[in-house]
Amino acid sequence: MRDAPPPEPPSSDITPERLYLRRREFLQNAGLFAATATGVGGALYLLSGGRRRGGDAPVADAPPVAGPVAKAPGPFDTDEPRTSYEDVTTYNNFYELGLDKGDPARLADRLVTRPWTVTLDGEVHKPATVDIDQLLSWFPPEERVYRMRCVEAWSMVIPWLGFPLAALLSRVEPTRQARYVAFTTLMDPERLPGQERRVLDWPYTEGLRLDEALHPLTFLAMGLYGRQLPAQNGAPLRLVVPWKYGFKGIKSIVRITLTREQPPTTWNLAAPEEYGFYANVNPAVAHPRWSQATERRIGDLERRPTLPFNGYAEQVAHLYAGLDLRGNY
Ligand code: MTE
Repeated sequence: MRDAPPPEPPSSDITPERLYLRRREFLQNAGLFAATATGVGGALYLLSGGRRRGGDAPVADAPPVAGPVAKAPGPFDTDEPRTSYEDVTTYNNFYELGLDKGDPARLADRLVTRPWTVTLDGEVHKPATVDIDQLLSWFPPEERVYRMRCVEAWSMVIPWLGFPLAALLSRVEPTRQARYVAFTTLMDPERLPGQERRVLDWPYTEGLRLDEALHPLTFLAMGLYGRQLPAQNGAPLRLVVPWKYGFKGIKSIVRITLTREQPPTTWNLAAPEEYGFYANVNPAVAHPRWSQATERRIGDLERRPTLPFNGYAEQVAHLYAGLDLRGNY
């Protein structure tokens, strides 16, 4: 029950790169829905061993993380079946490592993640540029099993390892003027060769309101499945905001900046009518080219209903009291 896709915008409106991107997205989603309607796609999916559009080469497991892993009490875990390690690490969106789902795993070796620093700056009392290993040593990893819902209408269940973003922000002491948090991915076409093509305005940037950033569900991941984070999943550090569409989960972060104004974000700049700043999962607001009412859990045949705030409404709906969630999509 997809909305009929509107016609492509006239090519005079968009750059060739953007046209390419839109066509590609449209074709992918058209394929996805056609396959679901006939069931044929599902059978092919099983025959292909669960890797319809992922990489073909087997993935090597990342090394385990050192030291103990904490388990936080509270509403942090889902007990739904976890998406397989192989699907989590071979079916990826990371446009700096290629546009197809299997590309990031194939190109993962290009993204060398040591040495690596993260700069914390802007409206903070204690700005700092910190070596990633030092930063990680401050926070014993916790496991969080979260649903992830991509704006493309597929989803996964992923056991992340990491720590709350709030713990890192409290170390740098936001000023009273801080209202938003901006995140930036590494800019380095040597290590992220997709940046040689301007399909998006690199470096990838994302943002949250400060209260969203401080919410206990908001997480910085440095691992998954008890292992170090594979490059294709955003090593060495990526954002996870489980009630928002997956594109808010910016990968391979080098800078976190506290700001007074709402920061620009990559997908919102690329297509503001399609991707908003908030990007809360909302089955009632269709993407202009497809419905968001249902999703395909990777590994499942049947589509399932998409839940408001991706099933985390009880924890986060109060953040948006009084906000028009249709206008602020
Ligand atoms: N971060 C960067 N830097 N570049 C990207 O292309 N893709 C986003 C997000 N973070 C992306 C990114 C999108 S669209 C999704 S759905 C998730 O990463 C996918 O995360 P995963 O590949 O670990 O499942």
